[in-house]
Formats: sequence, C-alpha cells, structure tokens
Amino acid sequence: MPRPKILLTRRWPKAVEKHLMERYDVAPNETDQPFETSELRDAMTRYDAVCPTVSDRMGADVFKAPEIRAKILGNYGVGFSHIDVNACKSREIVVTNTPDVLTDCTADLAMMLMLMVARRAGEGERQLRSRSWTGWRPTHMLGAKVSGKTLGLVGFGRIGQATAIRAHKGFGMKVLYFSRHRAAPEIEAETGGQYVDSLDDLIVESDFISLHCPGGADTRHLINAQRIERMRPGAFLINTARGEVVDEDALIDALKHNRIGGAGLDVYEREPDVPNGMIALNNVVLLPHLGSATTETRVAMGMRVAANLDAFFDGKEPPDRVA
Ligand code: DGY
Repeated sequence: MPRPKILLTRRWPKAVEKHLMERYDVAPNETDQPFETSELRDAMTRYDAVCPTVSDRMGADVFKAPEIRAKILGNYGVGFSHIDVNACKSREIVVTNTPDVLTDCTADLAMMLMLMVARRAGEGERQLRSRSWTGWRPTHMLGAKVSGKTLGLVGFGRIGQATAIRAHKGFGMKVLYFSRHRAAPEIEAETGGQYVDSLDDLIVESDFISLHCPGGADTRHLINAQRIERMRPGAFLINTARGEVVDEDALIDALKHNRIGGAGLDVYEREPDVPNGMIALNNVVLLPHLGSATTETRVAMGMRVAANLDAFFDGKEPPDRVA
C-alpha cells in the first residue's frame, strides 16, 4: 500500500514534520510562503490530505476541480472560518481542527493584552527604546487598574472559560459572559462567570470586553459601530478570536477620537494587512496573531492534526472532526 500523500501548506515545527514523515509521504512547504488559491485548488487534486492553516483562504474556489483526490483537511488550528465548510461537505471532504491544546496559551495572551493596553506597556516600551524617557515622576504614563474591574466575555467556550479563571482568580475581576448557551452551574462556579443574556447589556456593564467567539459569517462585525458606541468611555476591547468579528474601521474611528480607553488586538480583518490608521494609534496594542505561538502549543497542535490523520487513514472517526 503506498503511503498517503499529505501537504503541509506552511512550515510546521520540526518535531511534528518528522513525526508525520514516519507514516506519510509528506510534502512540507520549504519556502513557508502562503499558497495562491490556484495552488490550493491544484493541491486538492494531488494529495490525499491537505493540512491548511488560518493563513490559507480555503474558499469555495479551492474545491471546484472536477476530480478531487483529498478526502480530509487536517486544519492546523482551532478556528476554521477560513475554510468553506459547506463546500467541503458537498465534496465529501472531512475537516478536522485542533481544540484544547491552545486554550491556555490563548487565554494567557488575552490576559496579557488586557494588562498591556490598560497599563500602557507598548507605549512605555516605545518611549524607553526611543530614548525619550526622562525618568520617574508621579504623573508619568498613568494607565487604568486591571485588578478588580469587570470583564465581559463574548463567547464562553474553552478559551473564554480559561480567560475567566485567570481574570477572576488571578486578578479578582468580576466576570460576565454572553454566549449562545448558558454554561452549566458547575462551570459558572469554577470560572466565576456570570451569564448576561444580552450582548448590548454586557457591553454597557464591562470595563474590558474580550472576544472568544468563532469567526465566520455569523459573527462578522458582531462588534460594530453601534456596539462600540455603547462601550464605557474608558473601556478596552480585546480580540484574540478572529479579525472579522470587529468592524475595524469603526474601531479605528473610536480609538482615534478616544471614545474608548483602548484596544488589544491579536487578529485582524485582512491579515497580515493592518490598516495604517490602526498602526498610527498609541491606544491600541497590536500583536501579529500570536495566541497559540509557544513551542509547546504549536507542537501539540501539529500532533493533534497527526492524530486526526491517523484515525482517518485507519478508517476510524477523527477525534476532532468539525465537518
Ligand atoms: C487558531 O487555532 O485558530 C489560531 O488562531 C491559529 O490558527
């Protein structure tokens, strides 16, 4: 039996590539440059499995070839709004993701963004590195206190809950959450999360709003101009979920006119493009999609893809099947 041919669309951690090569005929992406749509479409006809990442736009066009060989997309990441899942279903292509293994690191990063933006860490570092810091003084770069404030979580899955635990137990924050479904009483007790049944109410009541919902058409611009307008004047918006959840132009406008305290962003509407209007602002912390970027987590994500491929090619149900 020939070994299944699998394509990794980007460079993966060496340990994972090596692990995959023991069982599969692996095509790594030596240049680590993202593929064009036409290359992805072509890959679907030449490999048994294609393993994309959030940097691949797997829209309907990718699945249009008359003969498709790939039977599974082993997505390297938990979010899969870059994949047209309906097109996959109609071509009978299985899609898997990598939940759990990135929960802690993404929640850590959400906490980090809250602290960075409220305590003006980015601004402070820029000032020091540009040699314009003149020394300690009582009125120097005053930020906002994080401990004890109210955090509103939009989405209360694994990462939302892990963020709640950090904020509530570590920083004594009051934690509110809005989600499609109310969590079980034991989860609310463990995380300190209090359910709010309206997103607009959660926004009005929060000093920090942190997004933890999936991306895609259903949540596109969930945080729009009207909702940003409802935020408290000194409140902060944190996004480690997906760029499309926030109307970026509306956010830039609010930040520019200091209508909110600031924002901490790890994801953007048109990655890797970040608008000049955003770059120019001091009251926003901008990170290059680093939520899961630790060696431990990125290796674990790859191993999770491997486990899904192994199950699939052994004729079993992949543990993290999403379509
Ligand atoms: C995820 O896993 O969804 C991260 O955002 C990286 O893709």
